[in-house]
Amino acid sequence: MWDPTQYLAFADHRSRPFFDLVARVSAEDPRRVVDLGCGPGNLTATLAERWPNAVLEASDSSPEMVAAARKRKIDAVMLDVREWQPSADTDVVVSNAVLQWVPGHDELLARWVKQLPQGAWLAFQVPGNFDAHSHVRTRELAASDAWRDRLGPVVLREDDAVLDPVGYATLLSEAGCEVDAWETTYLQRLTGEDPVLEWITGTALRPVRDALSDDDWQRFRAELAPKLRSDYPQRADSTTWFPFRRVFVVARTP
Ligand SMILES: C[S@@+](CC[C@H](N)C(=O)[O-])C[C@H]1O[C@@H](n2cnc3c(N)ncnc32)[C@H](O)[C@@H]1O
Repeated sequence: MWDPTQYLAFADHRSRPFFDLVARVSAEDPRRVVDLGCGPGNLTATLAERWPNAVLEASDSSPEMVAAARKRKIDAVMLDVREWQPSADTDVVVSNAVLQWVPGHDELLARWVKQLPQGAWLAFQVPGNFDAHSHVRTRELAASDAWRDRLGPVVLREDDAVLDPVGYATLLSEAGCEVDAWETTYLQRLTGEDPVLEWITGTALRPVRDALSDDDWQRFRAELAPKLRSDYPQRADSTTWFPFRRVFVVARTP
């Protein structure tokens, strides 16, 4: 059984979708549990707690993330999710907030379904916020005359890699899986100065940050900030409401 106290203890904005996802995975005694794009490993650790008898396999393409996970005693390795190969004992695969960075992941999913053993659980969650003001404003600014040349061909998920729940359900059920797919828009309560800018700095803006000098990065942020303030105004009690759509899929292989 899922422990509600533990669940609530992690019920912050970034970890809550992970728990909403894995709550729908009913594997009882999996042999191998895989966390693809494990990040800093704090959520991977909860998989180990839930399935203590399973071999835990964790990987991420970022050396910083792998180092952070290893500090938490998660035996993570550096691996691009596109290179991952399921082994014959892989009973659970979790990938939380990763595949939005991988265009063409629909083909990966179809390959994994063929390679995974029968009855394996494949659970993933992706943000579905391509059309959110935060992302539209960022793309508009990046494409403006002032920034287009400076930024060059940064990856801003121009072609949205993410399907909607019906898209994933169709793909995976046509591959023979039982599928449970849904979407949730979390209404996130943020506080502080420019909290939406801070939020996307760690995620959607990372490619912009990487493409710019320190000075240009500060200028880009300064130009984006008022646009986000106007789309996501701060209330009198200093709350900024930030709706965030996420798409969830839990599939069982045939
Ligand atoms: C938003 S974080 C999510 C981390 C973790 N799954 C969690 O839920 O806390 C996205 C992670 O995906 C990783 N990532 C991005 N592209 C990847 C790829 N092609 N292969 C493997 N990991 C990737 C990033 O390094 C980052 O750790």
